[in-house]
This record gives sequence, C-alpha cells and structure tokens, in this order.
Amino acid sequence: MSNQIRPLIAGNWKMNGDAGSFLEVEAIKDKMAANVVNADVAICPPATLLHRVSAALYESDVATGAQNCHAEAKGAYTGDISVDMVKEAGGSYVIVGHSERRDGYSESNEDVAAKASAALAGGIVPIVCCGESLDVRESGKAIDVVVEQIIASCPDFAASQEIVVAYEPIWAIGTGKTASADDVAEMHDAIRAALVERFGEQGAAIRILYGGSVKPANAAELLAVENVNGALVGGASLKADDFWGIISAA
Ligand code: PGA
Repeated sequence: MSNQIRPLIAGNWKMNGDAGSFLEVEAIKDKMAANVVNADVAICPPATLLHRVSAALYESDVATGAQNCHAEAKGAYTGDISVDMVKEAGGSYVIVGHSERRDGYSESNEDVAAKASAALAGGIVPIVCCGESLDVRESGKAIDVVVEQIIASCPDFAASQEIVVAYEPIWAIGTGKTASADDVAEMHDAIRAALVERFGEQGAAIRILYGGSVKPANAAELLAVENVNGALVGGASLKADDFWGIISAA
C-alpha cells in the first residue's frame, strides 16, 4: 500500500441486510474499539438501514455511507434519495457509479459526475467507481477505457474536499475471481497518473480503492500493491469476521 495515504476499507452491502445484520455491525464496532486500526472504515448498507446503522455506530470508528444518491437536492424523483437525506441519516460517504448501477440503470459518466458533484456540494465524500467488462479486458483496452471512465466521472473539487475512486473490474465482482496483483498495479498506476494529470497535487492524494471479490485470504496481497489505498468490499463485508479479516490486513 505504498505511500502515506491512509487506506479506506468500505463495505458495500448492496441489497442485503436486515435486523440480524446489527449483530455484525456491533461485532465490527467492538473489534475496532479493541484494536489499533490503520485504516478508515465505512459501511454502506441499503438506504432503509442507513439511519439505524449510523445510530448503532455513533461515536465509533466506523463511518457509514449510502450506495447511491440523486444529483438533485429534492423533487419528483420517485425512489431516489438526495445527498441531504444521506447526511441526515448519518452517512458521510456515498458510492456513485457502481457498475451495477451503470449497467442496470444506464448511468453515464455524466450522471455519475453530477452525483459526485452533489455529494461534494453537500459535504459528503463520493466513492466514484469505475471498471471494465471482461470483453474490454480481453480486447486489451482495459486501461484506456477505465482511465477515460474515471476522468469523465470525477467532477472538479476544491482543495478542502475529498473524493475517493474505486477500481472494480466487472468480471471480478461477486465472482470469486480477482485481478492479479500485477494487473491491479498496472491499472492503479494508470489511474493515479490520470488523476495527477487532471488534478495535480490533489490527484496524488486521492484514495484509489480496489474492489472485486476482496476477501480475508487475498486482502493483504491486494492492499500491498502500490497505489492501492484500500478496498471496496461487497460480499465479504456482510459478515463481521470476514470484514474484520480485511480491515486487519490493512
Ligand atoms: P464483491 O463486490 O466484493 O462481492 O465482489 C464488490 C463490489 O461490487 O463493490
């Protein structure tokens, strides 16, 4: 995990979780309180649970976030939630542009940038996702496609603000397949170079998370890669033992 950037381990519960999940939340909170952790940690539950999970984690070392938001502040957007709603529910992060939203809801880079911009304006940290399909990877164009995607999905931001980027190869999400450490290194280096080119010094400080079947068994290897500044964790964030295994690897 190279440089001086403090890693972020963020759990994306996706459409999972219920009242029973609070046992897992409490277990993570207890582990965090009992250990020295060299990483920021966040849990992004479904919107319906965000307020309760935030309350359960109040004054703990675990932050919370949402999995999506609308770019507008309010209005006739059935089914959506605004940045202020995320904040009111206790969230300090929001995942934007996850491939499951880009693919399932046709979200474009412009849509993602607008959401990230709304998050920044509202004072929460956007976790801006990017990643290539298997077809793109096999065509040899993964780096070009991902770099273009991430640059088009990141809005300009002020020196006092923070954004996070997450590289998640689509073929590695929920499949048990992970990119090799060499492929991850190559991609994260390319993303870093593009962020520095676009944002200068601020680009050098942006956390670039890796996501896609991160689990306790592969976390240490992935997190040791240069320019990998944390992980966005799906399936393995649902169970406290697994999530803790990844946090402690950082
Ligand atoms: P996964 O999901 O860890 O279950 O592969 C990662 C993600 O989609 O954020």
